[in-house]
Amino acid sequence: MATTLQFEVLDLRHFSAGVMRPLLEAESRVWSERLHWDYRGSADLLLQYLDSRVLPGYVAVENGRVVGYVFCVYEGHKAVIGDIFALELGEPGRMPGAPAASAAELRGELLRRLLEMLQNSPGVTRIESQLLLHPHGDHTRAFEEAGFEVYERIFMESPLRRPEVLDGATGIPGLAMRRWAEADFAAAGRLIAACYEGHLDSHINEQYRTAAGSQRFLHNIVRFPGCGYFDVESSRSVCAPGSTELVGLLLCSRVREDVGHVTQICVAPEYRGKGLGKALMRQCARNLAQRGFQMLTLTVTASNRNAVGLYEELGFRGTHRFDAMVWDPAEHGRA
Ligand SMILES: CC(C)(COP(=O)(O)OP(=O)(O)OC[C@H]1O[C@@H](n2cnc3c(N)ncnc32)[C@H](O)[C@@H]1OP(=O)(O)O)[C@@H](O)C(=O)NCCC(=O)NCCS
Repeated sequence: MATTLQFEVLDLRHFSAGVMRPLLEAESRVWSERLHWDYRGSADLLLQYLDSRVLPGYVAVENGRVVGYVFCVYEGHKAVIGDIFALELGEPGRMPGAPAASAAELRGELLRRLLEMLQNSPGVTRIESQLLLHPHGDHTRAFEEAGFEVYERIFMESPLRRPEVLDGATGIPGLAMRRWAEADFAAAGRLIAACYEGHLDSHINEQYRTAAGSQRFLHNIVRFPGCGYFDVESSRSVCAPGSTELVGLLLCSRVREDVGHVTQICVAPEYRGKGLGKALMRQCARNLAQRGFQMLTLTVTASNRNAVGLYEELGFRGTHRFDAMVWDPAEHGRA
């Protein structure tokens, strides 16, 4: 016998920040428990967008209360699914148990509705998503059924007292490492595009494919609190000898008062394998440790063995696995 879902799915744009706030507060608690992330800055930014009533997405409403949501943003022809979240059964604000839908069922239905809407929007030719909060495999089926490719990624962390990440070389001869500077945007955009040419991460994140796209990525990281607050003091740039072109870059954000998160690390192909990646990580870790930070975290694509190996050597351990998804029929057709 078919079960009737005990909730409604409605357009996110009908809901104000005030109505959504309790849900985002519940979500913030999960970010904190699972990833040591103080999500309140991101939640506040999201609430501002919600109040402008322009964010595409859906909410699940049960007994007149918002119990789940999903949203996306458009970047030209591309849609990026930013987040999905639903309250578990029995949590404050939810019915205690059956016949109410589980959180997984709510998320599944929200996702199905959003994918259906996006895949039927003529202007949308590509959809990307990285659902950092949700364990690997949680939404794989829904995405694969909709024609997406799914890639496993790892969330890694290291306490900032481990000798592996603090001790050892913090530079390599002939290359000057310094703090990130505002003037680095253009050169950093060129470096990222060069570093990720042919790399799986530029398949997952289209912005990495061009210098202009990489600059948009950099602006998001440096100027907006969507991925923590950019921490200029622990972020590093490495210049080519006698030039302002960059050959190495590490960007770090503060995701909690005492937790740093590496949002980008890359080294120009011709400078790899000389210890620069490790030196960048150590400089960042030492700076954070000196300032009282307790932990450093990062994310990496599971198949990027070089990078995973580098982080493990520095004492990082994978503590959570999540998925990145891509839908790009034109590209898949060419592959
Ligand atoms: C990951 C990356 C930043 C490492 O930078 P790097 O300067 O080469 O790093 P290091 O020289 O300090 O360490 C490289 C480690 O990778 C491995 N490695 C082996 N051969 C290598 C090679 N030919 N080139 C690079 N790394 C190699 C080794 O484990 C080496 O450690 P070892 O020195 O103890 O042998 C760089 O490869 C890069 O920019 N890759 C593309 C972007 C990327 O994947 N970034 C990470 C996203 S999470």
